[in-house]
Amino acid sequence: MATSAPPEVDGIFHYESVNQVPVEIQKYWHQRHMIYSKYDEGIWMTDDAWFGITPEPVANMIATHVAEGAPKEKTMIIDAFAGAGGNAIAFALSGRWERVFAIEKDPKVLKCAKHNADVYGLANKIWWIQGDCFDVIKKRFSAMGKSAVIFASPPWGGPGYTSDVVFNLSTMQPYSLEAIYTPFAKVTKDIILYLPRTSDLNQLAKYAPEDRKLEVTHYCLKGASKALCVYLGDFKFNS
Ligand SMILES: C[S@@+](CC[C@H](N)C(=O)[O-])C[C@H]1O[C@@H](n2cnc3c(N)ncnc32)[C@H](O)[C@@H]1O
Repeated sequence: MATSAPPEVDGIFHYESVNQVPVEIQKYWHQRHMIYSKYDEGIWMTDDAWFGITPEPVANMIATHVAEGAPKEKTMIIDAFAGAGGNAIAFALSGRWERVFAIEKDPKVLKCAKHNADVYGLANKIWWIQGDCFDVIKKRFSAMGKSAVIFASPPWGGPGYTSDVVFNLSTMQPYSLEAIYTPFAKVTKDIILYLPRTSDLNQLAKYAPEDRKLEVTHYCLKGASKALCVYLGDFKFNS
């Protein structure tokens, strides 16, 4: 049973009132119940994790689409940049996967993610791996591509991305589109990328299979796009 008590680790918090919250995070904290419907049950966050978290309604919608569209023989999903657990929790809750793996390089953020999954009743439903996803995927998952899809919500280089009319995916920091796609595609072509809403679609079009459309979905909250997902590989959708 999870508690709201923060652990004895510097940098992990469960903020309960606005005067505890650093100014730059307050806008996210005010949306905490939308980001995590179970926030008050003791969600843990690092200050950085607030900037990258996928809000729960968006994470659930993505999980539904991934579950519907993924090739039937795929039984495991690898969340390469797990953060504080937003997407990994939704993938586990979808019930579609025999295995959900979640990789995160920052040990404090990973500690939050594990705890947050526990709050959602998912203790032992997600296989957590601390490390660099490029190393981990190459070393541990190279032979599992036939049964795996990879979900990637990489960092976008900080909040500055919002001012770009068209977001250039080849200069995305710290990893460009190419730097993410190339190593992951050696394991499986079935890759979902969660990217800024203004991402340059021409740069994505280059990854479309011959004579096939590429599915790009905007995920919206309160009438505005939060982000988009591009579904690469053999995803098939009814509509
Ligand atoms: C945008 S956040 C992911 C948020 C996550 N989808 C969620 O809903 O909580 C990106 C995360 O990737 C992690 N990260 C960055 N580089 C990484 C790498 N090479 N391997 C694994 N994790 C990495 C960062 O520490 C950060 O927590």
